[in-house]
Amino acid sequence: MSLATSAPLAIDRATCLALDAADPLAAYRDRFALPDDLVYLDGNSLGALPQATAAHVAHVITEEWGTGLIRSWNDAGWFAKPLVLGDRIAPLIGAAEGEVVLGDSTSASLFQVAVAAARLRPDRRVIVSERSNFPTDLYILDGVQQLLGRPAPLERRLIDDGGPSLDEVLDDDVAVVVLTHVDYRTGRMHDMVEVTRRVHSAGAIMVWDLCHSVGAVPVDLNGADADFAIGCTYKYLNGGPGSPSFMWVAERHHAVASPAVTGWHGHATPFDFDVEYVPADGVTRFRVGTPQLLSMAALEASLEIWGEVDLADVREKSLRLTELFISLVDSRLAPWGVEVVTPRQSAKRGSQVALRVDDGYAVMQALIERGVIGDFRAPDLMRFGFAPLYVSHADVWDAIAVLEEVLATGVWREPRFARRGTVT
Ligand SMILES: Cc1ncc(COP(=O)(O)O)c(C=O)c1O
Repeated sequence: MSLATSAPLAIDRATCLALDAADPLAAYRDRFALPDDLVYLDGNSLGALPQATAAHVAHVITEEWGTGLIRSWNDAGWFAKPLVLGDRIAPLIGAAEGEVVLGDSTSASLFQVAVAAARLRPDRRVIVSERSNFPTDLYILDGVQQLLGRPAPLERRLIDDGGPSLDEVLDDDVAVVVLTHVDYRTGRMHDMVEVTRRVHSAGAIMVWDLCHSVGAVPVDLNGADADFAIGCTYKYLNGGPGSPSFMWVAERHHAVASPAVTGWHGHATPFDFDVEYVPADGVTRFRVGTPQLLSMAALEASLEIWGEVDLADVREKSLRLTELFISLVDSRLAPWGVEVVTPRQSAKRGSQVALRVDDGYAVMQALIERGVIGDFRAPDLMRFGFAPLYVSHADVWDAIAVLEEVLATGVWREPRFARRGTVT
């Protein structure tokens, strides 16, 4: 059912409850420790806490660390954990076993793979990204340019919706293209297959940032023939604040890829304590040092859920929720000049919707006070993420009702809603 095109005014809360009753993913909501009186539409920023996480982390702390102590590096499989969990993320992104490894922050992992990507094209001098990319990606690429820009400096080219386009910047001097698959602000999704094809036809290497894709939309990195990818696990994967990022390296690059940071966990024989660095085989060489095992424990618990879920169901529900939200914005919030900036064409949309609203920051704070949590991105975007495992159609209805009330009463004008916290 296409809600956006089929008489949106006929939808009411009872219709939403009926859609929830027929939802094959509905039961997953009980797997999360979400307060009953909250509509949580910020899983695109920090995913909800799975019910099983606290007990699993407690087990790792008290049993594996407390009792097992140093023995757990072998007995509890700690040393292999970044690869074991990487293999569990692999099916979510169209990767094969042995192609994914957990890293440090997403920013650090991007540095690790972007340097490796650029080194695969040593005769080329240009790195391409896009102006609307998440800023850390651009900052990290700046660092890559500084590191590799000798003897001749590397050039950065940024594509933009207003031009230049990808085709306009691609030439035989481009070494690497780094794009975020689903835009962090607007939710606009690139065509991974087509973009990768064009980048390859210019002879360049394709790196995808999957932060807003993994667990939100089906991804097929090998199907798209991409080269490298990175992503975070604290958004739709629900790994918890600061959970580790992942890196994917296409198998064809394993033997030659040369990562930026060459630490002992990426060594072929780390416990020989050799003075010379010899890279491990495969994606293991992208490891650096001692992994964050307590964060990995939280991620391990949430990946149990992802091992059960059919991503086709996730995508179908995600599109239903975002279509419903967009159609209700159109039908009920037009009087306040609310503008949907997320693509209406489903093939171009991830699992979030952004609204352009004057004074969006204050409006969002008033919404949060009323139990509907989204977030705000400067200068004027209110972002709403729809994590299909725990967001219901009734949540969408209720969020719109509260937003309508906040706009109609003008309560957001109260001065306390304008006060900015450090994190928006
Ligand atoms: C697209 C994108 N890339 C990178 C990052 C940065 O991730 P980290 O803070 O884990 O380095 C974010 C954070 O939200 C993001 O949205």
